[in-house]
Amino acid sequence: MALLIRNGEIVNVGSRLQADILVENETITRIGRNLEASQKTEIIDATGKLVFPGFIDPHVHIYLPFMATFAKDTHESASIAALIGGTTTYIEMCCPNRNDDALQGYELWKSKAAGKSACDYAFHMSVTKFVEETESQLKQIVEDGTPSFKIFLAYKNFFGVDDGEMYQTMELAKRLGVIVTAHCENAELVARLQQKLLSEGKTGPEWHEPSRPESVEAEGTGRFATFLENTGAHGYVVHLSCEKALQVALAAKSRSVNLWIESVLPHFLLDKTYAERPGVEGMKHVMSPPLRAKHNQTALWNGLAKGSIDTVGTDHCPFDKEQKLLGKDSFVTIPNGIPGIEERVNLLYSYGVKCSRIDLDRFVDAASTRAAKLFGLFPQKGTVAVGSDADLVVYDTNFRGTVTVKSQHTNNDYNGFEGMQIEGRPAVVTVRGKVQVRDGQFVGERGRGKLLKREPTHF
Ligand code: URP
Ligand code: ZN
Ligand code: ZN
Repeated sequence: MALLIRNGEIVNVGSRLQADILVENETITRIGRNLEASQKTEIIDATGKLVFPGFIDPHVHIYLPFMATFAKDTHESASIAALIGGTTTYIEMCCPNRNDDALQGYELWKSKAAGKSACDYAFHMSVTKFVEETESQLKQIVEDGTPSFKIFLAYKNFFGVDDGEMYQTMELAKRLGVIVTAHCENAELVARLQQKLLSEGKTGPEWHEPSRPESVEAEGTGRFATFLENTGAHGYVVHLSCEKALQVALAAKSRSVNLWIESVLPHFLLDKTYAERPGVEGMKHVMSPPLRAKHNQTALWNGLAKGSIDTVGTDHCPFDKEQKLLGKDSFVTIPNGIPGIEERVNLLYSYGVKCSRIDLDRFVDAASTRAAKLFGLFPQKGTVAVGSDADLVVYDTNFRGTVTVKSQHTNNDYNGFEGMQIEGRPAVVTVRGKVQVRDGQFVGERGRGKLLKREPTHF
């Protein structure tokens, strides 16, 4: 059925326009004033509301065997949570570990999502070792429509690669036009500092941050950038958390290294005192890189406002309280991660736009358009334009609410952002022209989402 969204204010990067949007066959076919609709057309009145391109979360974990357990969401639960929060596409980290076969891992991750996700999705393919068959396997994966890699400089002996493997991954990525995303922390230093702290009897969650201090992240970021500089590959730092690492990344950008920066929601809003809370309260806020001293938030917001931080993701990774308690005797075994897929857009709007830290243009860019451009999804995604997929978020800026575990859709028994105020939320969310959400309720079709096939763009 055709869909007409009437009289909203369309917000794209660089433009704002009061107009109607006509959608036919999953695609935006017309944008203009007083568009006519046939009798069968579904009409949504967007008067007084903003209309955004569907938001894109460039960094989530849904299926994730990690730290002796599994992240809690399924594609069904995570995609419904995403959609209620205005995210219509997510890019999941496909994370087979060092002992797994990459191609089998890729197929496994695809099978977990197929027919389950209610929104569209793609993958970043993790390269967790580089052995004889890796090159041909990665070529197959790129040809299958996944032209972005992920490497971990952290998580020694599990996901982590050494410098040689990082070099080989980048050298191949350069040839294939693939972007390499990276978790940047020095694995050796983390391992040594963890052992030192434990030997001093420092076992609680408050010691997680001191075991991976800002300098350890800055070193990883700098090394990643130096390898990009010397291979000519294009790179993207994921979940950059602190001013020290930002300075290193910006210095690399200023000498023309092809580097882009993502920071994730928790690091803008939460600081390390959350992880210093006693017991499981602290453990809920253990993630890597860790929550930092508060002054870093100012650097992140400023970087985001200027566009030197390109995107805001979530690193969505839910573990419940029982799982977090796997680390009750040692911070080293607390499963790392925090959910956020449902809260990202509303909290970024509320604490970014409404608090005048970023403008509306940057908001749309950082939460949708720039990820679409970087990861080969633009202009199919990331813009409200004729010919683009009709992934649309009709946004009610008058809504007022509070984040709470009681109403969340993510499969977890806590919310890391509990009690934060929301000023705005999606009134209607469509995925390729189908209404999936109305006023905080999922009203759509489960399993509607499709795997987005992408082409390499980083030559
Ligand atoms: O703590 C985190 N970030 N957990 C998920 C795995 C990762 O490093 O992205
Ligand atoms: Zn990571
Ligand atoms: Zn991650």
